[in-house]
Amino acid sequence: MELADWAHRILGADTLEEKLLSPDELTDHTPPPALLWETPSRPQGMEFKRHSKEEKLPAFHEFGSSDKRAICLHRFAGHELLAVEIMAYALLAFPQAPKHFRKGLANTLKEEQEHVRLYIQRLLELGVRFGDLPLYKHFWSHVPFLTSPLRYVSVMSLTFEQANLDFAPLYGKSFARHGDEASSLLMQRILADEISHVSFGLGWLKKFKDVNTPEWQTWRDNVPDLLTVKRARGFVVFEDHRKQAGIPYEWIQTIKHS
Ligand SMILES: [Fe+2]
Ligand SMILES: [Fe+2]
Repeated sequence: MELADWAHRILGADTLEEKLLSPDELTDHTPPPALLWETPSRPQGMEFKRHSKEEKLPAFHEFGSSDKRAICLHRFAGHELLAVEIMAYALLAFPQAPKHFRKGLANTLKEEQEHVRLYIQRLLELGVRFGDLPLYKHFWSHVPFLTSPLRYVSVMSLTFEQANLDFAPLYGKSFARHGDEASSLLMQRILADEISHVSFGLGWLKKFKDVNTPEWQTWRDNVPDLLTVKRARGFVVFEDHRKQAGIPYEWIQTIKHS
């Protein structure tokens, strides 16, 4: 299947099965002209919840309750589904991007689909179905800003995915502290993949950027003003995870002191 056809099916899907369609053979022979997808279709009951602010997630000290942990896991599953859709958006929006970039993006998309599956499985074990709780527009509201592959990697890989280098282990450790080893292991798996997703974004930012501009400055120049430096971190900053992803020292310090 061609990447563009696949992306189209994901964005137009009205079943979860179709959202998670992951063909073994993907080709990219003839990407059609750029298409800027407005809003992804969603299975019934999984549409973006409108006109309401995202409810706050339960606090760590409440994780003795499996219902509270499930609320967090459900929110994270929603983020993964959005990541799937935004990556599909990028495949349709940037037909002229280097083939190698598009291929890497497709591989990342497949990993995000796997993350959705893993969260769904864990949620079921906790007695919650994906879609039972509200799902939000969240990252999708930044899509109109993603007018180039450089902006895409700056916003998606190097802001949202970078922040998960902190949030995934923070939640993982807290789940473990409350005896939920399975959810904790899931967060460890997510962290390992996220390090490689950040690394993918950084590798391409380096290729796309102007030679005289530092990496972190290029990043700042390519995110919307409303995404402050703080959006790329959690309330604790794990330097090691960023080093593993290859984030330069100067950039890590900027984030740490934000
Ligand atoms: Fe993910
Ligand atoms: Fe990711």
